[in-house]
Amino acid sequence: MTEHKVTTDIAKAVEVLSSGGIVGMPTETVYGLAAFALDENAVARVFAAKGRPTNHPLIVHLSPDADASQWGEFTNEARALADAFWPGPLTLLVRRTSLVPDWVTGGRDTVALRVPSHPMAIELLRAVNTGLVAPSANKFGKVSPTTAAHVMDDLGDDVDLVLDGGACAVGVESTIVECLPDSVSVLRPGTITSDQIELVLQAVVGSSSGEARAPGMLLSHYSPDADVFLVETLEEGIQKKQELTKNGRSVHFIHFDDIDEYARHLYDELRHADLSKCDSIVAVMPVTSGVGLAIRDRLMKAATR
Ligand code: TXA
Ligand code: MG
Repeated sequence: MTEHKVTTDIAKAVEVLSSGGIVGMPTETVYGLAAFALDENAVARVFAAKGRPTNHPLIVHLSPDADASQWGEFTNEARALADAFWPGPLTLLVRRTSLVPDWVTGGRDTVALRVPSHPMAIELLRAVNTGLVAPSANKFGKVSPTTAAHVMDDLGDDVDLVLDGGACAVGVESTIVECLPDSVSVLRPGTITSDQIELVLQAVVGSSSGEARAPGMLLSHYSPDADVFLVETLEEGIQKKQELTKNGRSVHFIHFDDIDEYARHLYDELRHADLSKCDSIVAVMPVTSGVGLAIRDRLMKAATR
């Protein structure tokens, strides 16, 4: 039995992390698998537990009180975005400082930084008073966890402790914005949209995805076991479900009118489908605005083999 690993005791998590352990940590987006960023052995355990290639760089999470400029070089744009959206679901990709080790960035000269807004994450980060790497706490290639139970399901044997901060309020991973001296671009859509970013910067930002810019954003990154069918309308969805059922297939149907609710429940729905051993998922795509774009991005990845 591993239930004793799930706790709300932040002091215990600090103790485990301080002695080189790895801890499931709630954030407002998804649960992360946390370790001291400057502890090479602890970070190696994070990669091993996830089964993640070591050249896939990690996000360093900082407390709202931390001096982020110790970790990264902030352009004016990066500073403006941090001021506008931290603490919150925004990751800034900036040039790293000499403090940031290769084992965090996979040898890249940039570092991903984020100040989460989940109260328990903030309390933990304040208490450890250093940066914590925290990739999503799922096995490599699988959907991110949005509850402590999801973390236990995926990594229960490998993790030292899981801090239970309830179900994540956002449900999809943070928006990643690369802020380099000559360019700003959105590398991963999230609940903070390009429109919101452009409003703050009073400038048009690019968007770019792909392996080279941010390794780990493989097309097939968020994959459930079942086949995923994407449709644009409820009517099409019902039709698709009927067609699949007629052919003897078991279908899990995903449809939400409210996009925030959709984001919050998306990964739980995908996990649920796999647990119920159904062979197909029919998902009605959300609108192409707000967090709808991030949901569509993840669904498209879920549908790619
Ligand atoms: O919401 C989130 O961002 C969650 C929570 C736990 O904070 N974390 C998360 O981490 O989604 P992860 O490791 O699953 O995804 C981070 C992405 C990866 O695709 C990684 O390749 C990219 O960020 N990344 C991190 N550092 C990078 C760097 N220096 N250059 C390019 N991409 C980087
Ligand atoms: Mg991930």
